Parts: sequence; structure tokens; C-alpha cells
Amino acid sequence: MCGIVGAVARRNITPILIEGLRRLEYRGYDSAGIAIRDSAGRIQRIRSVGKVASLQQRMEENPIEGELGIAHTRWATHGMPAERNAHPHMSGEQVAVVHNGIIENHAELREELIAKGYRFTSDTDTEVIAHLMADAVKDGNDLCNAFKSVVKRLVGAYSLAVASPDDPDRIVVARAGSPLVVGLGDGENFVASDVFALLTETQRFIFLEEGDLADVRREGVQVFDSEGNPVERPVVSSKLNPTATDKGPYRHYMLKEIFEQPAVVAETLEGRIHKGRLLEESFGYETKSLLDRTKRIQIIACGTSYHAGMVARYWFEEIGIPCNVEVASEYRYRKSVVSPDTLFVTISQSGETADTLAALRGSRQQGYIGSLVICNVPESSLVRESDVALMTRAGPEIGVASTKAFTTQLVALRLLVLALARRQGVDAEQLNTWVEELHALPRQMEVVLKLNDQIEEMAQGFAERSHALFLGRGPFYPIALEGALKLKEISYIHAEAYPAGELKHGPLALVDAEMPVVCALPDDPLLEKVLSNLQEVRARGGELFLFSDKRVKIELDNYQSLTLDDICPTTAPIVYTVPLQLLSYHVALLKGTDVDQPRNLAKSVTVE
Ligand code: G6P
Repeated sequence: MCGIVGAVARRNITPILIEGLRRLEYRGYDSAGIAIRDSAGRIQRIRSVGKVASLQQRMEENPIEGELGIAHTRWATHGMPAERNAHPHMSGEQVAVVHNGIIENHAELREELIAKGYRFTSDTDTEVIAHLMADAVKDGNDLCNAFKSVVKRLVGAYSLAVASPDDPDRIVVARAGSPLVVGLGDGENFVASDVFALLTETQRFIFLEEGDLADVRREGVQVFDSEGNPVERPVVSSKLNPTATDKGPYRHYMLKEIFEQPAVVAETLEGRIHKGRLLEESFGYETKSLLDRTKRIQIIACGTSYHAGMVARYWFEEIGIPCNVEVASEYRYRKSVVSPDTLFVTISQSGETADTLAALRGSRQQGYIGSLVICNVPESSLVRESDVALMTRAGPEIGVASTKAFTTQLVALRLLVLALARRQGVDAEQLNTWVEELHALPRQMEVVLKLNDQIEEMAQGFAERSHALFLGRGPFYPIALEGALKLKEISYIHAEAYPAGELKHGPLALVDAEMPVVCALPDDPLLEKVLSNLQEVRARGGELFLFSDKRVKIELDNYQSLTLDDICPTTAPIVYTVPLQLLSYHVALLKGTDVDQPRNLAKSVTVE
């Protein structure tokens, strides 16, 4: 939520900040701004409503240059998207501040500052920090000491970067609840919300820890812990390729990421299965010993990751492991009863989702045997704070609507199921079959991607509709939820998912000739039941869009369908996800919406 980037160098840093913002845009994009200290020692600020491109346009009309600066792309929390609310915020001509997160005690701080004569020009919580800084600097503190005293007064979750016209050599930053990295250069240093923002400048990073503050200068970086003591944090070399975040030949990141799925699924399996066998050693000793003690599972996640957890519940219970799944924002605020020998599992693409992280932190006092995270970002907070991690290897996911992260999460969950199945006494032959099914998955996904043109045609039936219904039973119910989520996220068509058996308890009242109904029809034990539910839809004139196994005989009077070949039973939910992603993508294209950055959403939700 919101992206921060900053640089202090001996060259013009404007292009570095703009490129950083472009790479961080997935975190929020309702306004953007930049503050640069120019050669005359003044802070020049430009802000603009809308995306980074509109800020760039403003800057072309009014170019600014300098060797020190900070910039921000915003996802609004306090105050509507408007230029006055865009960051950086300043106190008069003084300090400039960019902020990601929420300052919970901003109202009382604002009152105190108004009483002192400070004039507010925005509706944001952030502006109090600018005035607090100006006040602290006025008392004769240097920027870093002033910052230390100001941060002590802030309640909430945040990451911050501050620059001052009076200090030509430093940016001060803090991390408390929202991610922040320091990028190390030669005679220049950088800060950003994530490493992707800085990959074109450096591969060397310091990941600030909770409560850390850093004084970032050209010739060095000093980190302080939450007590204000100087600390050494490790310097990590990133192996990420700077072009990993390019669109390549694809029109949108989402399409690129959908088509990357066979490769990243194979990558997630690499070194973890071999010749029909799960290579459990690849999980590491600590994970293995945690799994030895696991008798039950509690899964916590948000959004698409929550849907992955819902699919996995069917898989875990199939092998006799009781499993609960809940969204983090509900779980963290209710009293829950933890059964003995329960493993706490979080699932998250980013590893930074505020509610999931808070649920993990809360779980430590609840009597779980330990915590395991399934995550796509190795340096993330969830990975660092969990006992063990099982990494998905999807690579950077830029499209706000999650695609490859979801399918690789399901693959990681399947690996976990296999590891626990052996402990549950599932026989070797069955285990081998399940491993082989995972092995076949990338190839099956390749085949499904070849349906792209036909799905594009199918999408024509949707573009003029205002509503859609997705149905599924068993593990295909969460897949229906995910299909509906994709459609509403990127095409803004109202879509609901229902367990097909529940249709008659309400949603059937909505079905008429204007209601497209989407359903996956794998060749599974619930097939006949689902087909009966679809008869109920047809009897009310509902229009059916089906994705079915070629072995399935559909006896319905009118429908559109595409067939999928040779899909294995255990991995079918993963494969059937792909056509639903493509369907939403093509509907969104027809509707002309912003596929990669749908309105009001952001990829990394670091506020609760
Ligand atoms: C946001 C994103 C979703 C994502 C959810 C959870 O809503 O737009 O795509 O599923 O957050 O994020 P996480 O990073 O924890 O998986």
C-alpha cells in the first residue's frame, strides 16, 4: 500500500526516482509525487493525481533536477485522491515526508500542532509528521536526532522517508509495520518499499527490521534499532533480474503472468519432487520436524491467498488432517480455541499483508506448535517472522489481480499435503501417483493456455452483462470464488460464487436470460450433482459457460463449453483456474478497464 523511493547521490536522481515509482506503482496509483533538493538548496515538489505517467508529464513541463530526493505513489487511506493529499508532504518550505501506512494518533497530534501555529494543507494523517519534524528541527536538532524524537511520538504502522533542504547529504527513514529496504551503491545510496524499485541501480540491500531507523548518506548508512542503538544489519545480494518486472511481448502483466504459469509451477516443483518421490529434505530440517508434530492445521490468509487455503482444506481433510481456514481480518479479532498439535499456516504472495502478519504475531501466544508461511517474497516480513517457510517461486507478480501466485501457492500446498500424507500412513503407490500428477501439471497448463483464442471468443458473451454467477462444488467451490474475484476485480462486473448445491437456497432467484453462469466440470465424484444444478439454471433460462473434462457428457439444452484433456484429479483445481483467469482477462479487455491496475485496489495491502 503506497510506494516509497528515495536517493542520495552525486548525479541527478530524478530519473532514478521516477523509474522506482513506476516499478512500485502496483502498490497504489491514485496519485504520485516527488520532492527534490535542488542545487540552490530548495526543495522542489511536484505532485499529481492519477498514475506515475501523469506525474511524469507534469515534470516534462516543469523539469527538476537534484542529487537528493524522495518520491511516493499513493493508495488513499486518510483523505481522497487529490493533489493536496498526495505525498511528499511538507511543513512550509521545510522538511518533506513520504509515508506508507497509518498514523493512528494523528488527530491529537494535529490539534497540538495547530495550537502551536502550524497550518495544515491536506486531509492526511501524514502531514503531522512533516510539522512535527519542522518543530523538532527548529529546536536545534540535526535531522536524524529530530527524526528519532518524532518517531517516538507516532502510534501506528508505517514506513517513512524524510528529506530536508538544510541537509544536503541525508535521507532519514524508519520502518514500523510496513516494509522498507536500503539499497547500497558506490558513493550513493537509496531507499524503497521493495527491492524491485531499485534493481536497476543496485543488487545490494539492507532489509530494515521492525522498529529500525536509518540515516542514509552518500558515503554510508547507519541503522539504529528501536531503542536508538546503532546496529549492524546484514547486506543481502539480490539475485533478481532487473528485467524480471518487464512486460516482455505481452500487452499486460496479467497476461504475461498467466502465460508464465507452466514455467513457474515447474520452478516451484524443482528440487522438491524427483522420479515419483517427494524430496522432503528440500523443506529443511526444521520444517520436517514441525511436520512430524502436526496433527491439525489452521490456515490464515487474505484475498486470493485465502482461496488457495480453502482448496487446501479439502486436500488436508482427505488425508485425515483436520483443517480450518479463515480470513486474517476476522481471525485476528476473535477469540479462537486452538486444539493441541495444530500448525499455524499463513499464505501470502507478498508476505506483507497487514492482517495476515498481525494474525501471525497474535498466534504466538495461542498455543500453536509453530508457524509455517507459504510465500512468494523471500525477504518479506512473514517469511522472516514465521518459524519456517515454504517458498513459491512465481517470480515478481505485478498485475494487481493475482494469477501465478495463486497456482504456485496451490502447488506448495500440494507438496505439504504429500509430506503429511506419508506421516498419515498413505501408501507409497498412492503417494507416487500424486507426485506424478504434480509432475504432469506444467504440461497440462500449457495445453489449457492454447484455449486462449477460444476463451477470447467466449468472453464476448460477458462484456455487456452486469452480473455473473460462478458455481462449483468441493474444491471447485473455492475455484469458483477465485473466478468470480478475478472477474469483479478487473472487469468491474458484479460476480458471485456459490457452492452449486446452495443455488436453490437463494441465488436461483437471480437467474434469468441476462445471467451468465460459469462452471468448471471436472470428471469427479460430484459431477452428476453439479450437472443437476446446471439443469436448474437452464430451466430458468440462465446462460451457461462451461469448462469441462473431455470425458464428461453434458446433456443440457443450451450452453457454451470448452473441453480440457487428461486432467489429473488432485491437480484439477489448479488447471481449471487458468481458463477462468483468461476469461476475466478477455472480458476486461472488451470492457476497456485498466487490467493491471484496477480502480481502488492495490497489490500489497499493508494497512489493516
Ligand atoms: C490484495 C491483492 C490480492 C491478494 C491479497 C492478499 O488484495 O490485490 O491479489 O490476494 O491482497 O495478498 P497476499 O500478498 O497476502 O497474498
